[in-house]
Amino acid sequence: ATNRTFTMIKPDGVENGHIGNILAMITTAGFKIVSLKLTQLTIADAQAFYAVHAARPFYGELVEFMTRGPIVAAILEKDNAVEDFRTLIGATNPAEAAEGTIRKAYATSIGENAVHGSDSDENAAIEGAFHFAGREQF
Ligand code: CMP
Repeated sequence: ATNRTFTMIKPDGVENGHIGNILAMITTAGFKIVSLKLTQLTIADAQAFYAVHAARPFYGELVEFMTRGPIVAAILEKDNAVEDFRTLIGATNPAEAAEGTIRKAYATSIGENAVHGSDSDENAAIEGAFHFAGREQF
């Protein structure tokens, strides 16, 4: 069924000049952009967004990284969006990411891995609503 996922181009992807190329890979793969903006997470935003990782040793580093500069936030629509997008971005660790994936092309490390993709339909809806008002979702 046609459904939606949520993505961010993380601060490393923006800093390294990859916004255009990453969006091109996303649209070439058949995703329709239904919301899009450049924004920056506050510390409180990042802590809330990654609350599920609060007990992990890398949580502080993750919050610092995700808040250090602007990100691109987007809601994407496609048949089987959540699963197909996670295939497109590739493994968390770029050393393990398959050829042709966004992380293979643009991630620099396991922490600075260029893009986020929601892990479930439920989280896609929560994360999309975190960033976009209803009138910003086309
Ligand atoms: P993502 O899977 O999108 O969401 C959780 C993020 O935590 C992950 O991307 C990485 O950015 C970060 N992360 C996961 N594992 C590690 C790690 N071992 N060290 C540092 N950051 C990590």
